[in-house]
Amino acid sequence: MVPTSAITALQALCDVGRVKAGQKVLINGASGGVGTYAVQLAKALGAETTGVCSTTKLDLARSLGADHVIDYTRDDFADRAHRYDLILDIGGSPTLSRLRRALTPTGTAVIIGGEAGGSWTGMGRQLRAVALSPFVHQRLTMFVSKLRTKDLETLAAFIDAGTLTPRIDRTYPLDRVPEAMLQLMAGKVRGKIAITI
Ligand SMILES: NC(=O)c1ccc[n+]([C@@H]2O[C@H](COP(=O)([O-])OP(=O)(O)OC[C@H]3O[C@@H](n4cnc5c(N)ncnc54)[C@H](OP(=O)(O)O)[C@@H]3O)[C@@H](O)[C@H]2O)c1
Repeated sequence: MVPTSAITALQALCDVGRVKAGQKVLINGASGGVGTYAVQLAKALGAETTGVCSTTKLDLARSLGADHVIDYTRDDFADRAHRYDLILDIGGSPTLSRLRRALTPTGTAVIIGGEAGGSWTGMGRQLRAVALSPFVHQRLTMFVSKLRTKDLETLAAFIDAGTLTPRIDRTYPLDRVPEAMLQLMAGKVRGKIAITI
C-alpha cells in the first residue's frame, strides 16, 4: 500500500514544486514519514538533494540517497553558503525569512508541515507565505495533498523500478498502537511505523 506521505512527497516535488533534473533541492525534515519518500523521489527525478534532520538520523538520510545532509541541531540550512532552487519544508517550522534566505532569487518553497504552535489557525506561516508570494520573486506556497490514481501509478512504477522503498522503522500489533503513537510523538521513529491487523 502507498501511504499519504508518499503521495504528499510526489505532489510537493512535481505538481507544486515543479522540480527539474539538476536542480538543488532541500528536504527540511528528511527522516520522517514524508521526508523519507521526498528524498528518494527527488533523487529519482534527478535533483541534487540535501536532507535536513537530527544527528542520529543523518545515516538514514544518506542511505535514502541524499547527496548532502545537514544536522539541524548543529547547523542552520539558512546560514550556509548554499542556496536551493526548491525547498520542501516538512519539519521544524522555519520562519519565512529563513526559508527565503536559503532559496535562490527565483526559488520555490513548498510548506508541507503544520505549525509548531503559536498560531490560532495552525496555519499562520502558510497563510503569510501565500500572501507574500505575489510581491517577491521567490515562490512561497503551501498545499494539501489529494489522492489521485495517476500518482498511485507513478509511485508504483518507482517502487517496481527499485528507486522508491517505504522505510518502515517498526511494526506494531493493533493492541500496541498507543505505544507506537508515543514513539512517533517523541520523534523516535525513522521513516514510518506500520500497524498489523
Ligand atoms: N500538506 C499535506 O498535505 C500534508 C500531508 C502529510 C503530512 N503533512 C504534515 O507534514 C508534517 C510532517 O509529517 P511527517 O509524517 O513527515 O512527520 P514525522 O514523521 O514526524 O517527521 C518530521 C520530520 O521533521 C524533522 N524535524 C523535526 N524538527 C526539525 C527541525 N527543527 N528542523 C528540521 N527538521 C526537523 C524530523 O527530523 P528528526 O526526526 O531527525 O528530528 C523528521 O524528519 C506534519 O506536520 C504533517 O501534518 C502535511
